[in-house]
Amino acid sequence: MKIRLSGLSNGSSRCYDVMVNARVERLSLHEIDDFREMVWGCHRKQRRDLPWRNTFDPYRILVSELMLQQTQVERVMDKYGPFVDRFPTVEALAQASLEDVLGAWQGLGYNRRALSLARLARIVTDRYCGRLPEEVEDLTGLPGIGKATAGAIRAFAFQKPSLFIETNIRRVFIHHFFSAGEDVHDREIVPLVEQTLDLSNPREWYYALMDYGSILKKEIINPNRRSAHYTRQSPFEKSDRRIRGLLLRALLSKPSFTADEICSLVDEDVLRVARIVDALVREGFVKESGGVYAIARTV
Ligand code: ADE
Repeated sequence: MKIRLSGLSNGSSRCYDVMVNARVERLSLHEIDDFREMVWGCHRKQRRDLPWRNTFDPYRILVSELMLQQTQVERVMDKYGPFVDRFPTVEALAQASLEDVLGAWQGLGYNRRALSLARLARIVTDRYCGRLPEEVEDLTGLPGIGKATAGAIRAFAFQKPSLFIETNIRRVFIHHFFSAGEDVHDREIVPLVEQTLDLSNPREWYYALMDYGSILKKEIINPNRRSAHYTRQSPFEKSDRRIRGLLLRALLSKPSFTADEICSLVDEDVLRVARIVDALVREGFVKESGGVYAIARTV
């Protein structure tokens, strides 16, 4: 079905084959050109100048991608510079204490990423002589790196035309190619990302897609609601996460705590607090010895 869709910001409108789920695997050259032109056009006018885009250093790009996995760009802007100033190389990060790494991560949330990053730094230093590998299989074998982050690192650090889908990119494709679709699965988006990818400059192309997706977010109702991957965090999960963040912050503030001291930090059911502390111990953030709790020394 052909349908006319409005472009954004530049006031244009274009004809696309609209996918009412599970259609088209092949776009015509004309459709590909049109789509690219629209995305590049928008990028020329509104390219975001973000600090991690001014480097090809794989380590710095890795840090930014881990930060951006679950945190908004504006928040990452505040934290990225101080983090890479403090730990300028993968070796410097490998030598840092978990306490220092978690301290520098404060404010970004989802602290598991910081723990993964600390573990990853040691592995890369020991196994890869401090050089981040380029191959997807090697990258995804490292803590904290899934397929999407591997694709991002390959495109941004190594100019490889790898597949990369994240929330802004997903939004662009759902908006443009699935105008009436519901529960759009990434496997339907993948062939479109692959066909439209600019092989001569994947790094800048993905920046352009992400910038366009972030503009779309401000201008229209979020198309990602129609993604099969769209999830909202339950209020219970949210408050678990808040308690977890609070406990970690407290644990970073002094050398050790007894169980009673930990429970008095938050006005919550003791069993709930115990469950969260147990998870922190299991995951390797916290060590317990003789009823005393402290941030783990080694990762
Ligand atoms: N630039 C590079 N990677 C990015 C990301 N994941 N989100 C936003 N901008 C980026």
